[in-house]
Amino acid sequence: MVGEELLRVEDVWKSYGPVVALRGVNMVVRRGEVVALLGDNGAGKSTLIKIISGYLKPDRGQLIFEGKPVRFNSPLDAKRLGIEVVHQDLAVILDLPVYRNIFLTHEITKHGVLQDKIMMEESKKALSVLKIPMPEVTVKAEALSGGQRQATAVARATYFVKKLLLMDEPTAGLGVVESKRVLAIAKQYAKEHNVGVIFVTPNIFQAYDVADRIYYMEQGKIIFEKRKEETTVEELTDTITKRILSLRRRDKL
Ligand SMILES: Nc1ncnc2c1ncn2[C@@H]1O[C@H](COP(=O)(O)OP(=O)(O)OP(=O)(O)O)[C@@H](O)[C@H]1O
Ligand SMILES: [Mg+2]
Repeated sequence: MVGEELLRVEDVWKSYGPVVALRGVNMVVRRGEVVALLGDNGAGKSTLIKIISGYLKPDRGQLIFEGKPVRFNSPLDAKRLGIEVVHQDLAVILDLPVYRNIFLTHEITKHGVLQDKIMMEESKKALSVLKIPMPEVTVKAEALSGGQRQATAVARATYFVKKLLLMDEPTAGLGVVESKRVLAIAKQYAKEHNVGVIFVTPNIFQAYDVADRIYYMEQGKIIFEKRKEETTVEELTDTITKRILSLRRRDKL
C-alpha cells in the first residue's frame, strides 16, 4: 500500500558552471512506493539523486522530508534520516574488502575496535538477499567483476536503508537474472518495508516493470508523470521517442 508523502522535491535548480543540469524539478515520493525516473543521457537524473542523497546542494529550491524542509551538508546528514543510495558511478573502494565496503560509514566498533567478524557475518546476510554469485566477503573489491561491484553497492544500500532508497541505474552491468532480482528487491523494499524508492533507469521496460509511478525528465525538467495504471510500455515508448526525435531535429543533432 502506497502511504503518506515521504519526500517532496520543490523547484530544485542546479548548475555546474555554465551547464544547467536541473531547471525547477518537482517530485513527490510516498512511503511504500517505487517511483521510476526515466530520461535520456545527460537529462539530470544523477544530479537529482546526488542532491537527494546529500552529495550536492541545490542552487535553488528545497527538499521536504517527512513534512519538514531539510538541508543536507553531507551524505551523512541524509543517511541519518534513513536515506541510502546506490550511485551510478559505483562508490566501492577498491582497496577495501567487500565487507568493509558494505559497512563503509556504518562500521561496527566496540571500544574503538572494528568488529570484523560481526561485519563479515552481516555482510554475507546483506549479499544473500541478492542471490548473486560472489566471492568471500574478505576479498578486496578490486578483485570483483563489474556486476559483483554493483551487487556490493546494492547490498550496502538495502541493508541500511530505513526510509528512502535511491537507486541510480542499479542494473547497469548486471545480467538478465541479476537485473530481475534487483527490480524485485526494489519492489520488495517498498511493499514489505514501506520504504520509498526512486529507481533511475534509461530503460522504459524496467521503469514500467518496477514502478508505481513514472517521471520522465528531459534537459533538467520533469516533462510528465504517469501512474502505471494510466499508461503502457507502448504509449511511453511512443511519447518518449517522439519527444527525443523532435528535440534532435530542433538541435540539429
Ligand atoms: N561534475 C560535473 N561537472 C560539470 N557538468 C556536469 C557534472 N555532472 C554532470 N554534469 C552535466 O550535467 C548534466 C546532467 O548530468 P547527469 O549526470 O545528472 O545526467 P543523467 O541524466 O544522470 O545522465 P546519464 O543517463 O548519462 O547518467 C549533463 O549535461 C552533464 O554533462
Ligand atoms: Mg546518470
